[in-house]
Amino acid sequence: MTESEGAKGSVPSHVPVSSVWDEDFGRFTMELDDPYEAGARLHDGPEIVWSTHGYRGEQGAWMIVGFDAMRQAFVDHEKFSSVDSAGTRGLLGVQWQQVPIEFDPPDHKIYRKFLNPLFAPKAVSERGEMVEKVCSDLVERLATKESCEFITEFAQLMPSYVFLHIMGMPEEQVEEFLDWERQTLWTEDAAVRLAGAARIRDYLVELIEQRRRRPVPDLISAIACAQIDGRVIKADEAIGFCYSLFLGGLDTVMSVMGFAMCHLAANKPLQQMLRANPELMSKAVDEFLRAYGVVVMRRTVRNDCEFRGQVMKAGDQVMLPTPIAGRDPRQFESPHHIDPHRTDKSGLTFGSGVHTCVGMHLARRELRVALSAWLGRFKDISISDKDQVRHRTGITWGVDCLPLTMVLA
Ligand code: HEM
Repeated sequence: MTESEGAKGSVPSHVPVSSVWDEDFGRFTMELDDPYEAGARLHDGPEIVWSTHGYRGEQGAWMIVGFDAMRQAFVDHEKFSSVDSAGTRGLLGVQWQQVPIEFDPPDHKIYRKFLNPLFAPKAVSERGEMVEKVCSDLVERLATKESCEFITEFAQLMPSYVFLHIMGMPEEQVEEFLDWERQTLWTEDAAVRLAGAARIRDYLVELIEQRRRRPVPDLISAIACAQIDGRVIKADEAIGFCYSLFLGGLDTVMSVMGFAMCHLAANKPLQQMLRANPELMSKAVDEFLRAYGVVVMRRTVRNDCEFRGQVMKAGDQVMLPTPIAGRDPRQFESPHHIDPHRTDKSGLTFGSGVHTCVGMHLARRELRVALSAWLGRFKDISISDKDQVRHRTGITWGVDCLPLTMVLA
């Protein structure tokens, strides 16, 4: 194979020079104040590029930036495999993978069949009261203050308490769990990632074993004692499920909530519109989700193939940056504008196809409940110091600091 040199490493010969994108995705998306507008500059180029820096800087990878191309890639599990997509085996040196996110059909279907009812709209509705209570307790705590740091004092806590409640994990350890998760997902440093991932694994392995021996009404027990395809769940499957939920469920909602509140606090007319028309909140949440994707997913090309005219080789890595998809002007008119009345909200923030996020109904409800509570309790919300607002991009996106001033309603 003849190879040309990119700045970061070699570019395989099947990659046309016109497709090579020699930038660091994390740095590129932080070049402007608004990381989404920075990322959307990718839409000025081809819908598929070869990123020389790849996923976590490991090796070069295809990066699909066009909305339509990304949707097709999410759906096409024949061409694009999810096996090892989260890199669990490589990172931890274990035999098991995250379930179901690192499995392809047909095995994936068996696992998803078990998980679906636990997160279906009915199951989420049954938890509605708990979600409302967790939210209102936190909002009331802040209502006595005129200012707060939204991320640490609310966005980080509300979805985490809900998640821990469902899983059956202790609320008091929330900070520790979030630390482990950040070590695993937020950094490129392999040693730090391994340390965080190992803590999560060790904790969950022990908890699963306790619940297997003495089940209680929580999700860890349901997984520990599950019947999968008519047989008792294996230990590797149980840890795969719990580890996947831990990483998928703990801070994704917080990330979207941070961006949504950042947007609301800077847009008084939108705040007023939603206060005056609370029935628009569901549509507003869909719109925030369309515009604020927060994860970059990964696939591996199974066999040599052509995808939308691009030759790809077996083993090529493929990145699916959902934060870029929602801002494609070829799919969405004025993509940076948040309009609850927008009719096309077919975003990719929860993915698409067989792996579409199992937690999406819960996530939508949490976002609706939280934003409604804030707009109801405070008649004015603003950013108190724009210079202190901090974003993070890369494989997972989020707001790290959002100082707010609030006026009680
Ligand atoms: C706004 C919040 C959330 C976002 C943006 C999000 C995003 C995503 C995306 C993009 C996928 C597709 C992955 C792929 O195709 O490889 C996914 C899958 C998944 N999500 Fe979420 N998620 C969110 C909330 C949650 C929550 C709250 C939970 C659990 C309580 C959860 C659990 C999962 C699981 C288990 C999968 C794997 C599904 C499968 O492979 O079939 N997610 N999520």
